[in-house]
Amino acid sequence: MTNALQQAITLLQGAKQICILTGAGISAESGIPTFRDKQTGLWENFRAEDLASIEAFDRDPKLVWSWYQWRRNLVIDKQPNPAHYALANLEQWAINHNKTFYLITQNVDDLHEQAGIKATHLHGHLWKNKCSQCEASYDADNDYTQDMLLKCPLCDAYIRPDIVWFGEMLPHDEWQLAEYAVNNCDVFISIGTSSLVYPAAGLLQVAKRQGARIIEINLNPTQNPIIDLVISGKAGEILPSLVSALE
Ligand code: OAD
Repeated sequence: MTNALQQAITLLQGAKQICILTGAGISAESGIPTFRDKQTGLWENFRAEDLASIEAFDRDPKLVWSWYQWRRNLVIDKQPNPAHYALANLEQWAINHNKTFYLITQNVDDLHEQAGIKATHLHGHLWKNKCSQCEASYDADNDYTQDMLLKCPLCDAYIRPDIVWFGEMLPHDEWQLAEYAVNNCDVFISIGTSSLVYPAAGLLQVAKRQGARIIEINLNPTQNPIIDLVISGKAGEILPSLVSALE
């Protein structure tokens, strides 16, 4: 076992509250491209930042809606990978050892849930829609193969994905829970995130300020100086080794 894995095990064994933050990198091995990967095919000339905003939707709702329908088609048949399952096992290990465990994710897919663990979703849900004006949730069937815009039955405005776009506030309850989890944790593990998008990325600083030890698991570590322990590599390989060594 590597020295870094051994150190992570020691930190986890000594922790009372463990807080995990995941990003797109944890779903990469399930075949879902990360955000800072170059987009491919139809969408190669667009950046996520230029599509995921209310300004982009107001300017060209069809374009933004089509991009999400394309993303939904890309994600619909994807399954959890060993990293998602390892986190579900880590939660179980924590419960068995009287530790409190929180999983916070920036991902809008539901692969954590498919692996049997509930996550707090800071950036919304790919499979949910809401009205772009009155914000009523829109539960009617959505055929992901169709690019046709949908309209709100209550106010006739366009339906949009229930995802937090650039410049929008994070959902209140989820953010409060995340702050609570981080404010009381003694080990914080950041997995597969570039930590470029705030306020989620700021959770690392909050954890550090209140004395938690910070571990990062990343294929291309972020070089963030506040991280105490970096484990470089694929989440789908590192997490199963880490968790099986704990059990
Ligand atoms: P990014 O695409 O910015 O970063 C993905 C991170 O995962 C990078 O640091 C990669 O090095 C790392 N990575 C890739 N493959 C990995 C693997 N197999 N194992 C471990 N690490 C791996 O994704 P996020 O940080 O999640 O927001 O992006 C944050 C937010 O920006 C997203 O939630 C999204 C986006 O705009 C919204 O949609 C609102």
